Amino acid sequence: MTVEQIKIGFDNFSYVIYDKPSKKAAVVDPSYNALKQVGFIKSRDLELVYVINTHYHNDHTDKNKRLLDTFPQSKLVASKTDGVYLKYDIDIFIDDGDQLKLGELTLGFILTPGHTPGGICIVVDDEAIITGDTLFIDDCGRSDLPGGNVNDLYDSLQKIKTLPEYLIIYPGHDYGSKPYDTLGNQKKTNKTLVAKNIEEFSKIP
Ligand SMILES: [Fe+2]
Repeated sequence: MTVEQIKIGFDNFSYVIYDKPSKKAAVVDPSYNALKQVGFIKSRDLELVYVINTHYHNDHTDKNKRLLDTFPQSKLVASKTDGVYLKYDIDIFIDDGDQLKLGELTLGFILTPGHTPGGICIVVDDEAIITGDTLFIDDCGRSDLPGGNVNDLYDSLQKIKTLPEYLIIYPGHDYGSKPYDTLGNQKKTNKTLVAKNIEEFSKIP
């Protein structure tokens, strides 16, 4: 497994993606506390290459600077749309369909607006998808916060549903019955993925 799921505070998830042969690593969503991610990276002698934000909300991005300062060679990665809301300089702006290499691993980016205008999901080498606050286990993110849009969120979830069912979903919060699950299981059990159309979807409480 090349994705380490790290619980931060009450219910946030941060992730370290790493390529064992090259020892290159990326942190997704540092959240409020970078201690565990820094410890994980240093204990395995990894090289932090990217700090990636799935979206701009502070509970995902608060410790960006701590990581960037601790590993000065690392680069901050975010979508153009959400990047403008961040209080940090973005090094690499992501657009839909972009890819980044992390050693031998490929990180594929999908734009998934709806929770925020420029949310992104990260497909890790045909193995996993880190979904931020777009998709949780058993639920999806809110679309009623500033910049959210229920139609965009529905369309983003339809995009995710077309991906291979063996992908493991790693969400941005620990809100579900388990910390992660396969997309195939969630397509059967997650009410927000089961909904047949936008009318059904928008009635989910
Ligand atoms: Fe959020």
